[in-house]
Amino acid sequence: MFYNEDCIESAKKYLKSNSIDLIISDPPYGINGDRLDKHYNRDESNVLDGYVEVPKKEYPEFSQKWITEAARVLRPGGSIYIVSGYSQLRHILNALANTPLQEKNHIVWKYNFGVYTSKKYISSHYHILYYVKPNGNVTFNTNAFFADSEKSANGGSLNYLDREDVWIINREYKPGQIKNKNELPKSLLTKMILYSSNENDLICDFFLGSFSTAKVAIGLGRRACGFELNKNAFDYQIKEIEKIKSGELLSGLRQVPKNKLVNKGKSLSQEETNQIVSEFNQLTKKGMSQKNACDALSGKYGRGYWSISKMVSSFKLNGSQPPSVSLFD
Ligand SMILES: C[S@@+](CC[C@H](N)C(=O)[O-])C[C@H]1O[C@@H](n2cnc3c(N)ncnc32)[C@H](O)[C@@H]1O
Repeated sequence: MFYNEDCIESAKKYLKSNSIDLIISDPPYGINGDRLDKHYNRDESNVLDGYVEVPKKEYPEFSQKWITEAARVLRPGGSIYIVSGYSQLRHILNALANTPLQEKNHIVWKYNFGVYTSKKYISSHYHILYYVKPNGNVTFNTNAFFADSEKSANGGSLNYLDREDVWIINREYKPGQIKNKNELPKSLLTKMILYSSNENDLICDFFLGSFSTAKVAIGLGRRACGFELNKNAFDYQIKEIEKIKSGELLSGLRQVPKNKLVNKGKSLSQEETNQIVSEFNQLTKKGMSQKNACDALSGKYGRGYWSISKMVSSFKLNGSQPPSVSLFD
């Protein structure tokens, strides 16, 4: 359901408490964003008119009101991502601190086409505040994009790299296409949606703009709802969204190989620990490097490289000798 109404009043009217699995919202900037074309020196001829800005002095109260509503409608364990520039960031952080929502990450999104300035550094990042509502199961699909064992060309873990809290994602360049000011790129939305929701979950955007969150959510087989005050944008986008088929983006996603680290995070018996440490000792005695031995044992036992490495070094520190056992037979 999509409403061409103010998100605060509309959420109160239409959304039940604890009903939304994931919220992704990119509120108005509160920096006279309706005049941003002048600021950025952009050609705005294809940008839909009618962007609704929030006056700077109203920003703290406005932020508190919509974030309080967002916290109410989120289900326990549900996640919220708020995209913010740095100018009004403190008001968003203050508003979040006045809710029960708990911080998970403060993400920095670095984009291309920054605001060019010659006498200071060029601004080319946004903040993304990732919070969850307590007292419920949080959806975080750790292997949404990469299995634990997948490596980059120089041997780094792709899963680790993808889950770092600095995201380098380009804005989309859409010459000649109708768009909204500050449209979020599809790949940014796909990342948040795949990590923090499952198919058929309900995703809400309090500031739909070009309906980008809703379009990607529906394309990925989720359900979507939200609000947009600009009638011009709403009337145009409500027709566009009808063209999107539920799940149409799923077949284009990369197939993530099955996770080989099947025992990651599970507790180890003393017997298993002894076995692993003893095999490590035998491999390194035969001339294998410590790194390769940890890698081999990580694959064999389905446990993370670091947990093997930590285990063998704690034995070395204690000076204890695990019993000798046969190797790989
Ligand atoms: C930064 S834009 C969102 C852009 C959107 N994420 C996209 O990818 O297109 C903020 C949007 O919030 C809308 N807006 C401003 N105040 C609003 C309110 N009280 N309720 C609903 N929408 C509002 C603006 O018209 C604008 O389209």
